Amino acid sequence: MNGNDFTFVLDGENIRFEPGQTIMEAASQAGAYIPHLCYHPEYRPRGSCKLCTVKINGHFGTACTLPVQPGMQVENDTDELNLMRRRVVQMLFIEGNHYCPFCEKSGNCQLQALAYHVGMQDSHFPHFFSLRQIDASHPEMLLDRDRCIQCELCVRASRETDKKSIFGLAGRSTSTNLVINSESGLLGDTDFSIHDFAAHICPTGALIPKREGYPIPIGERLYDHQDISAVGHLHPNAAQRGESK
Ligand code: SF4
Ligand code: FES
Repeated sequence: MNGNDFTFVLDGENIRFEPGQTIMEAASQAGAYIPHLCYHPEYRPRGSCKLCTVKINGHFGTACTLPVQPGMQVENDTDELNLMRRRVVQMLFIEGNHYCPFCEKSGNCQLQALAYHVGMQDSHFPHFFSLRQIDASHPEMLLDRDRCIQCELCVRASRETDKKSIFGLAGRSTSTNLVINSESGLLGDTDFSIHDFAAHICPTGALIPKREGYPIPIGERLYDHQDISAVGHLHPNAAQRGESK
């Protein structure tokens, strides 16, 4: 096989890839945006949010988990897929309690930015108004489960980078919940620190530093002036620090 064989087709464009890469990795490397929430380049993919669903040779599959193969025909930015993604984002909104105008993460939130990207105008489904616990026990960090989309990024970051395993998911289906690995179940009773990697990986405002009141005004934040597709292959927190991921 010569070097020219390592190409696949994404929305009609020939894209080069390295053997072993997933569709998401190859697309990101080429600067092409595939919507995602639970994917992070530093962690093994979970394939749970389904936002990165693409069509591969006519069949649906998740771009973050599937290895790319030479000659694959991948559809990504199509009306059909974008409508499906809008429905997924709408389901995430009605399952939790997301009040963007009052959230410190507004403008830096990937869920909100994706809602704009997929043209979400309403919630489409009836709201669950789920009862979820807020954990304000930690001196530096707030855990607002109302905004948690159960992406498990904090779970993976705490386990794999911080070596603490502070977070986990428990329960099934709509009762799935983010739980804390301490006897009391409270974040304040762990050795979680604001300096942990896990403290800065949440794509929404679920895990957020306390006493940070809009240091950057709304209207001047990461996604206020650019669509998430323009920065989506960077992690927002890294992008804000000017790091490329
Ligand atoms: S707290 Fe944030 S990072 Fe952790 S699972 Fe919920 S949404 Fe994901
Ligand atoms: S980004 Fe692929 S399933 Fe979530």
